Amino acid sequence: MERKPLAETIKRREFIQTSARFAAGAIFMGLGTSKLFGAVHSSRLGTTTSIKTITLNNGIKMPILGFGTLYLKDEVGVQCVADAISLGYRLIDTATVYGNETSVGGGIKKSGVNREELFVTSKLWVDDSGYENAKKAFQTSLDKLGLDYLDLYLIHRPRGDVKGSWKAMEELYKDGKIRAIGVSNFEASHLDELMSYAKTKPAVNQIETHAFFQQDKARETLKKYGIQMEAWSPFAQGRNGLFTNETLAAIGRKHNKNNAQVSLRWHYQRGIVAIPRTSQKAHMLENLNIFDFQLDESEMNTITSLDLNITQFPEWE
Ligand SMILES: NC(=O)c1ccc[n+]([C@@H]2O[C@H](COP(=O)([O-])OP(=O)(O)OC[C@H]3O[C@@H](n4cnc5c(N)ncnc54)[C@H](OP(=O)(O)O)[C@@H]3O)[C@@H](O)[C@H]2O)c1
Repeated sequence: MERKPLAETIKRREFIQTSARFAAGAIFMGLGTSKLFGAVHSSRLGTTTSIKTITLNNGIKMPILGFGTLYLKDEVGVQCVADAISLGYRLIDTATVYGNETSVGGGIKKSGVNREELFVTSKLWVDDSGYENAKKAFQTSLDKLGLDYLDLYLIHRPRGDVKGSWKAMEELYKDGKIRAIGVSNFEASHLDELMSYAKTKPAVNQIETHAFFQQDKARETLKKYGIQMEAWSPFAQGRNGLFTNETLAAIGRKHNKNNAQVSLRWHYQRGIVAIPRTSQKAHMLENLNIFDFQLDESEMNTITSLDLNITQFPEWE
């Protein structure tokens, strides 16, 4: 399948920084954000800046910061995805089990941004595992999204007939329907097994990763296999007080950043793709605004000390 090459870097507008400050002031003054950003967006387009990309083990490029869509459904989902793309996000993460692929597709269409500029991920749910089911489920995802290929398709959890699913995904990859294939929530033993029969190596493993569950062991394993690590719930959904944690806040004060931005910068400096989710434009902007400061070694080490080395989502185990 012939396609235009993905842009080296993802272009977005420099108005982000200015409008984030403007938004913060406006929120402080009690103004709503939706009208406000409509105005800022249309009046400040002009200069560009970029979200960096990493190169996957098959040579394709993936933005290191993206937009998560869990729970963003229906009209809200459409609007959030359209807003996120218009503000500069290019990586959009969805999954069959989120029940929002139609909304995500609607948001992509509404954004008006060229398909080739986007990096769209979806995931095969466990009920659809196995060779035939996986092929059908993939086509259903494409139809719901209104797309004719995916950039990344992941096995959502290591359950069911993983071998059959992987074979189907390898074929779809070879046919050019998926630019990269990977897994999610795979532990070292699952990866070892997959690697024993895989003809195409997984490009990505998307796993829970945040300051309270840093996944150092998994990070080592993924490095060994040349698989890119991607963080789901990069804020732990705010659990365990992540957004008010005083250690992160103290680091943030030094850089004039908040806990969300310090967290995302930490992921970025560790070379991990992060896909924060938000339903608020002001937060979308804040979460993009992480490329103008640097955490030094001692700050990175301080964040390391927050690791509890345990999931914050025991209900999903
Ligand atoms: N593969 C898997 O098994 C798996 C599992 C879970 C998630 N995921 C993916 O990972 C994505 C991210 O994870 P998640 O959605 O669970 O949670 P998350 O991104 O860790 O946290 C989302 C929460 O953070 C808040 N937030 C976002 N930006 C903020 C900011 N700047 N300041 C303060 N609060 C902020 C959001 O509230 P507001 O809306 O109010 O901003 C929301 O409540 C998902 O959306 C999904 O795409 C994958």
